[in-house]
Amino acid sequence: MKSVLLIIGGGIAAYKALELIRLLKGKGIGVKTIMSKAAEEFVTPLSVASLSGEKVHQALFNLTDELEMGHIELSRAADLLVVAPATADLLAKMASGLANDLASTALLATDKPVLVAPAMNVRMWHHPATQRNIAQLQADGIRFVGPNAGEMACGEFGLGRMAEPSEIVAAIEAQLAPGQKPLAGKHVLITAGPTREPIDPVRYISNHSSGKQGYAIAEAAIALGAQVTLVSGPVSLPIPPGVGLMPVTTAQDMLKAVEGALPADIAIFTAAVADWRVAAVAGEKIKKQADGSAPSLSFAENPDILRTIATRKSGRPKLVVGFAAETEKVIAHAQAKLARKGCDIIVANDVSAGKGVFGGDSNTVHVVSASGVEDWPPLSKAEVARRLMEKLAGML
Ligand code: C5P
Repeated sequence: MKSVLLIIGGGIAAYKALELIRLLKGKGIGVKTIMSKAAEEFVTPLSVASLSGEKVHQALFNLTDELEMGHIELSRAADLLVVAPATADLLAKMASGLANDLASTALLATDKPVLVAPAMNVRMWHHPATQRNIAQLQADGIRFVGPNAGEMACGEFGLGRMAEPSEIVAAIEAQLAPGQKPLAGKHVLITAGPTREPIDPVRYISNHSSGKQGYAIAEAAIALGAQVTLVSGPVSLPIPPGVGLMPVTTAQDMLKAVEGALPADIAIFTAAVADWRVAAVAGEKIKKQADGSAPSLSFAENPDILRTIATRKSGRPKLVVGFAAETEKVIAHAQAKLARKGCDIIVANDVSAGKGVFGGDSNTVHVVSASGVEDWPPLSKAEVARRLMEKLAGML
């Protein structure tokens, strides 16, 4: 059995360490714990011991502990050391090699890989001293997961929120079994690009979707070992290697292709599906009228592919993710959409003029689910894709 030594630092995010222990135990990963003195102000050693099923190691100079398992052995018995939350103080100690309590001593004495999940106030995160320490730790081979951006317990906003327990678990699994990819054997279904709704044989109605975010997600899913089906409207992007591509044109075609591709473990709907199609597509090219009159078109509503799949009675993918492009009240609209569409996650982004999301390479998203809102910092579409797939892999 793989095991981790979890070092719980003293910060408000320490409460998330309890969920982290629960998730790790659920995956069959053994968890021994060290709590810093400050951590005990936020969670009790009794809660940690109950969840981990093991005694909690607390003080450096504890004769009983040393007789049972010395601190050197404790730091080497695990396959991986995880620091969550990793406070600014703990990171500073690690960066300068201090060993004045059990947590820092174990971190200095170990010969095992170390993963840290930083959590601190945004100003502390951006402070040059912290940034220097992080650069040093990265140079020393320490792995990082997070931090994320968002609202903080102190009321401020920005980078410094600890990564969610599911993200930390995904990072731990990637560390523990580098050869074994977390989505091996899983089928991920993705829609991408615009749909094109014909008016007559030569004209159509469509939108500006480039398909870049959906294609990036397909690549990220492949990298995690998934079998990927990409149902794509017309775009001008190279087909990601290893992806099963199903090219489609209209929304109705897209729904048919998606239903044909089921079952899937995860379905991610990034396509910008046209809400309406022309009710009666002309069989011949519509001619200009001699009297200068313009033709009028009437529309029919297209199927909502995301909603159709998310509300299926049988064969619903375990995780259904929608995207929401909004130009105002981004979070409120995303929360309403989550309920209306019946999906597990809505990834919301602000596509108002000037944000450069459509066709651009970067994206600022808010990940909305029943358990709350995560505000991610501005990231490349590739990085949004990587983080999203790691998060989903952790949730499966
Ligand atoms: O309602 P709205 O179009 O804003 O919802 C966006 C989300 O729903 C996206 O995930 C999109 O791919 C999906 N969608 C769909 N079928 C539609 C409309 C939207 O799958 N007809």
